[in-house]
Amino acid sequence: MQIAGRTFLVSGGSSGLGAACVAEFARAGANVVICDVSERGADLQRELGDAVCFVKTDVTDGAQVERAVATAAERFGGLHAAINCAGVATAERVIGREGPLPLERFSKVIAVNLIGTFNVIRLAAAKMLERPAEPGEDRGVIVCTASVAAYDGQIGQAAYSASKGGVVGMTLPIAREFAQHQIRVVSIAPGIFDTPMLAGLPEQARESLGKQVPFPSRLGKPAEYAALARHIVENQMLNGEVIRLDGAIRMAPR
Ligand SMILES: NC(=O)c1ccc[n+]([C@@H]2O[C@H](COP(=O)([O-])OP(=O)(O)OC[C@H]3O[C@@H](n4cnc5c(N)ncnc54)[C@H](O)[C@@H]3O)[C@@H](O)[C@H]2O)c1
Repeated sequence: MQIAGRTFLVSGGSSGLGAACVAEFARAGANVVICDVSERGADLQRELGDAVCFVKTDVTDGAQVERAVATAAERFGGLHAAINCAGVATAERVIGREGPLPLERFSKVIAVNLIGTFNVIRLAAAKMLERPAEPGEDRGVIVCTASVAAYDGQIGQAAYSASKGGVVGMTLPIAREFAQHQIRVVSIAPGIFDTPMLAGLPEQARESLGKQVPFPSRLGKPAEYAALARHIVENQMLNGEVIRLDGAIRMAPR
């Protein structure tokens, strides 16, 4: 799918990997709707101009995502692509110092990372379907963000790994279902990227994480994630796949 003149919805677009996608697609001439609970999306809108529109959205809420999708159609005339970057990371053992992990903390991670991604997929795809497409043409492209933690989750990542494993698991069945609609679905499983999600860690810990990457031995840059998201949109043969973007890292147990 070509990017210029098309409309993209980016969940989690206020920060990190999502914000890099907003900048990448806006620079390439797309219209972008940022869906995020964080108001920083409004700053991006001011910075990037009229082609970018921030709609404060909690991805776990059906009505709020519906409103964001409707905004894409009202303001820019339709929806062509959805990039799912909204997510939360936690590190908590199943049995911690204070006993078993409270169930609501596990549920919260699943709600945002997995159910929130599904919520955006179902509503974005329904909007994409309102638009006719020529045979063989992409009607829509959906990119989801999993994580290498879906495959090699560390101690403390039960909830996070389960949520990302869910994203991996639904990629192929949804791509298969949407094939008849000419909508592609591809996921990216990033390794360790230098985003605000990691900013809470001390510099030493961030450096040590970077050194665990075989090559290049550093943290990934958000622009590298955005470059892959862009390639997925532009390369029509990519569909139903999860692509690791990780410098060959395989996470150790801790
Ligand atoms: N940074 C990494 O190393 C890394 C590695 C693998 C996967 N990921 C995944 O990449 C995605 C982006 O992460 P990031 O590193 O850019 O983190 P980030 O914290 O910089 O960005 C995440 C964004 O999601 C938003 N968000 C959180 N809950 C939301 C909700 N309920 N509704 C709408 N927006 C919500 C946050 O406000 C934030 O702007 C996440 O899904 C994360 O799990 C990140």
